[in-house]
Parts: sequence; C-alpha cells; structure tokens
Amino acid sequence: MAQAERLQKVIAQAGVASRRRAEAMIAEGLVKVNGQTVTEMGVKVTPDDAITVNGQPIMREQKVYYLFYKPRQVLSAVSDSTDRRVVTDYFRGVHERIYPIGRLDYDTSGLLILTNDGALANLLMHPRYEVDKTYVAKIMGIPQPEDLAKFRKGIIIRHGRKTAPAYAKILSTDKRKNTAIVSLTIHQGMNHQVKLMFAAIGFPVLKLKRETYGQLTLDGLRPGEYRELRPHEIAQLTNLAKNKQNDRK
Ligand code: URA
Repeated sequence: MAQAERLQKVIAQAGVASRRRAEAMIAEGLVKVNGQTVTEMGVKVTPDDAITVNGQPIMREQKVYYLFYKPRQVLSAVSDSTDRRVVTDYFRGVHERIYPIGRLDYDTSGLLILTNDGALANLLMHPRYEVDKTYVAKIMGIPQPEDLAKFRKGIIIRHGRKTAPAYAKILSTDKRKNTAIVSLTIHQGMNHQVKLMFAAIGFPVLKLKRETYGQLTLDGLRPGEYRELRPHEIAQLTNLAKNKQNDRK
C-alpha cells in the first residue's frame, strides 16, 4: 500500500514552501486535496491524492536513491559558486532534486549516496544513528600496531572532540617510500574526520577513498559511475540507522 504522509510534509517536499509555510498555507485555506479545501493540520495523503496549492497542482517526486562512485576533484554539493565540478553534474539524466547524504572532501574519492528522501538523509546524517563506513587511506609513514590501537580508545581531534572507538588495519606498506595503506572503519561523520584522526597520531593522509557505507560497496562501479539502490539496500540502510538508534538508547 502507498505510504501516507502528512500534507504539509508533502507540500514541502514538492518544493512549494517550507514546512512551516506549508502549514500556514493549509490554515489559510489555500490547499485542496481531491478538490476539497483542507484547513486542519495532521491530514495524511498518499501518492494517489491530487493536491493543489493556490489552485496549482503540486509536482510530487518519486523517491530515488543512488549509489555514486565520487571521483577526486569533485565537490559533494549540488552547485558551486566557483564553478567546480559537483556530484550532481554526473546525474544529468536524473530529473528529481537529489543531493548527497553527507560529504566527502573535494580530494576524497569513493562511495556517496544521493537521494531526494529527506527523512532517510536526516536519519543517516544524525550523529547518533550513523552507520559504519570504511575508508582506505594512503598515509605518510608506517604506523606500529600501538599507533593504530589509539583509534580503538578514541582520540582527541579538532576542538577537543574525542572520536568514538574506530578500527584500523594495515593493508600494505612501502618501506622505500615510507608510506602505508590502512583501512579505517568509523561510524561518526565529523568533517575531515579520517584525515584529522591520522594527523593526530602523526601520519598525514596522502590519499583517501571511502570503500563501504553500511553494507554497500563500490563493486562494479568506476569513478564517476552510479547505480540505483535496490529496495532491500534502502531497507537495510533504514534499519541500520534505526538499530543504531536503539543500541544507543
Ligand atoms: N574523512 C575525511 O577526512 N575526509 C572525507 O572526505 C571523509 C572522511
């Protein structure tokens, strides 16, 4: 059965007005559902209901979900005032107003989800419900196990903030170049977190890629390519975030 949602939310999602303004419009009698003026709050509508605001039908977007392999030198945004390439430039054939869930740095590559589902985006970006993400970093220097063990206890990064326990593993080392490739799994999403964590233990990041997000991987994609998420993957993400919410209660 189609999911019923609050009228003011549907109007806001259609881009007509903010949710607060949508509530005011309903109260002012400007909104009709199936030809009937609705003035009370809390009415729920399904995709089958015809909604007009000021006599104009609203355009209701289907929710869409994409997994994108962000290349380096691309901004995790929908526009840029200095004309740098942005992630939505890769989605020219997609007409829904999608945006990235969270951010990868301009020089970080890897897995990014784009959607127009604000509820899922909020859930996944909320610091309490964040899902596990694995990054692979090329770092300057070769850490010892005791260096990486510091991540397990949590370390202080910018503004005295302590990170939650995180797990790192050395994948390879290059003694000649004095570099290492290390995977790091975190569930938080502070700005530049991985780079700050490695810098805090004395190993600057030279190159960074996000390889997984929850159970999602980049398998089958090359930089700049995307695919739709499958229904079970969307359900998994929603459940993961909700389970985290319950774990931490
Ligand atoms: N941590 C970083 O430092 N950069 C990213 O892009 C993502 C996580």
